[in-house]
Amino acid sequence: MRYIFLLMLLVSAGFLTACESTETMELQHPATKIPAPASDDVIEIGFSMDTLEEERWYKDRDLFKQAAESLGAKVKVMAANGNDALQVLQAETLIDQGVDLLVVVPHNAEATAAIVHKAHLAGIKVISYDRLIRNADIDYYVSFDNEQVGELQAEAIRSLVPKGKYVYIGGAETDNNAHLFKQGVFNVLQPSIDRGDITIVYDAWSKNWDPENAYKHMKQALEANSAEIDAVIAANDATAGGAIKALEEAGLAGEIPVAGQDADLAAVQRIADGTQTMTVYKPISILAEEVAELAVKLAAGEDMGTVNTVNNGKAHVPFLLLPPISVDAKNLEETIIRDGFHTREEVYER
Ligand code: GAL
Repeated sequence: MRYIFLLMLLVSAGFLTACESTETMELQHPATKIPAPASDDVIEIGFSMDTLEEERWYKDRDLFKQAAESLGAKVKVMAANGNDALQVLQAETLIDQGVDLLVVVPHNAEATAAIVHKAHLAGIKVISYDRLIRNADIDYYVSFDNEQVGELQAEAIRSLVPKGKYVYIGGAETDNNAHLFKQGVFNVLQPSIDRGDITIVYDAWSKNWDPENAYKHMKQALEANSAEIDAVIAANDATAGGAIKALEEAGLAGEIPVAGQDADLAAVQRIADGTQTMTVYKPISILAEEVAELAVKLAAGEDMGTVNTVNNGKAHVPFLLLPPISVDAKNLEETIIRDGFHTREEVYER
């Protein structure tokens, strides 16, 4: 009965279309196959993802599964595609299925605190993956140095445009990272702003990191400034893509430096073409491997020793920060291509 009720809930919440793991496909036939709890010897990790609607998260999913499986663990993946209630529901399902540990990429930094609470009631530890869950007693946080991401963007653009009118296209306000990226940008730009060398003529968040919202912002920024804009910093490559589309329509693509982040293939191709200036490359395999190793150790109850901590509003959370890499047309070859993040053919031979 409980599972029939759960199925009805899942269908009404759109769960069955958004859930994508092979293991969790069992849920499509709950009447005949009730998910078994994890066996004692194999560690099962639940990977609760905000979305699979962006290129980078496919890499995260695949690399994390690969890394965890190479350590003998099993991974169940669920992606909520930007739906807060669904992400909580999916995490609850993973908890009910008896996973040993949860790894969460939160869509909403605050709303996902409920997941941590529920997991802890069930005796399950939670690792915050790439994005910080705020106001919850999470067990570990692993990410790239997100403030440094913004600093790298601003340093690259300011070296090309030391004076002028800047547009800042932010990420999703609900994502803690979006605030850190912005903080990093302003750490670098503020002295120039204070001197009057740089003016921020437009600054907006892009809901859900949607490129369409970034496109609209860029159009508004161009209109409001009679197209007199000297530089654009976008919080990631998807939003940079939206901004560049608006610049293209105004005949300005390639004329104005634009920064992004993630080393998405489309962005790296734009760098090769000259319509995007730089991106910030985050080798996702390192993040995935670090979290997989940590997950297996935490699930096995190992003591992690003394570590750095970050305050998430509720607790001092143990955290591990990885360094991001600034990439432009000059070092594309020795970074992204050398690592096999994208192939030379993908980037140049289209
Ligand atoms: C951030 C993440 C970025 C970017 C963005 C949109 O939290 O750190 O790499 O992908 O989300 O999904």
